[in-house]
Amino acid sequence: MEKPPSRMKRYWKIAVIANIKDESQPKPEGVPPDAFADFDHIETIHHIQGALESDGHETKFLMADRTLPQTVQEYAPDICFNIAEGLGGDAREAHVPALLEMFGIPYTGSRVLTNAISLDKTLTKRIWRDRRLPVAPFQEFLTADDPLRPELKYPLFVKPAREGTGMGVDARAIVKNEAELRERAGWVVNTYQQPALVETFLSGREFTVGVMGRADAKLYSRHPDWYDEKDGFHRFPILELDASRSVTPNVYSQAAKAKDVGEKGAPDYICPADIDPDLEKKLKHFAYRAHFLLGALDVSRTDIRLDDEGNPRLLEINTLPGLTPGYSDLCLQAAAEGISYNDLLLDILYLAAGRWGLLEPREMTLKKK
Ligand SMILES: Nc1ncnc2c1ncn2[C@@H]1O[C@H](COP(=O)(O)OP(=O)(O)O)[C@@H](O)[C@H]1O
Ligand SMILES: [Mg+2]
Repeated sequence: MEKPPSRMKRYWKIAVIANIKDESQPKPEGVPPDAFADFDHIETIHHIQGALESDGHETKFLMADRTLPQTVQEYAPDICFNIAEGLGGDAREAHVPALLEMFGIPYTGSRVLTNAISLDKTLTKRIWRDRRLPVAPFQEFLTADDPLRPELKYPLFVKPAREGTGMGVDARAIVKNEAELRERAGWVVNTYQQPALVETFLSGREFTVGVMGRADAKLYSRHPDWYDEKDGFHRFPILELDASRSVTPNVYSQAAKAKDVGEKGAPDYICPADIDPDLEKKLKHFAYRAHFLLGALDVSRTDIRLDDEGNPRLLEINTLPGLTPGYSDLCLQAAAEGISYNDLLLDILYLAAGRWGLLEPREMTLKKK
């Protein structure tokens, strides 16, 4: 007789950790006009808490600011659901993971090193290129006057090396000649106080591909059937971002991202994307490899664009993908295949809980006596 599964499951105390947009407060001096665009609205936190509580857990929202060392120790969570973007410096998305590691507190998602590297698009691309993932030719500019390498041909695309959510990206990111390049690179370096990443402009279609899981995901998931038999990963349906009719034609900019789905000036979100099976297979394979090579954990979303010849080129990986229901790319992808918001969030939690030893693997409980 098979024993009924007892999975050490109990109700966890979960801290939901995030940085919140506070539009009532003036921005501090010296920060770029689109600073904090990647922070979350408090409503998103409430949705996340609702999803986690639907499984019986207790949750508390903790702000990812300088109060966190104290508040997290006071609350003493079993595990944290981390979506914090961090406050500053050259690796802000690694702040909360680093702090939690110091206190020995489990948390969801990627760890310190991965979150630090993935915020830096140049370093990320160097790692991918080393393992033969396709990326556009690129060069990092530390100043506006760095000599341009000859393999970089106009038009080029210029963006901050370490931002997200389209920050520092608008229609003027596409530069057609040396004067425009110098101007834009200078603007990025001065405004964002970081290097400018200069890449070949990719003129083709744009996709984003979410993946979730790991080799032993089936042992911890609430939905083991989601995960691939061989590699243990789930690939979400591919989302195409068609920004051709958006506020910034062909560029998925901060302004375009800030629009609600369906609003005037927003890009069209097409999921699943209408693409041939060959391309679909490639994009999903690249997103899986991109995640794996950076040592990402639980969930990520990789942005990919096609070049002039229709070849996919990886732009960046988001190891803290947005989780606003009905709005964030990953949530749209999950919804397109009938995965509910609660199930998506709970699987991220269970994958992490399994990794940190809070959940007994299913294999052991289902073994025949
Ligand atoms: N090399 C490029 N060629 C064409 N468009 C690009 C290129 N790099 C970025 N973009 C556009 O800018 C958007 C934001 O760039 P991305 O690298 O994804 O940064 P983030 O989303 O972190 O701001 C992309 O979604 C894409 O529309
Ligand atoms: Mg992106």
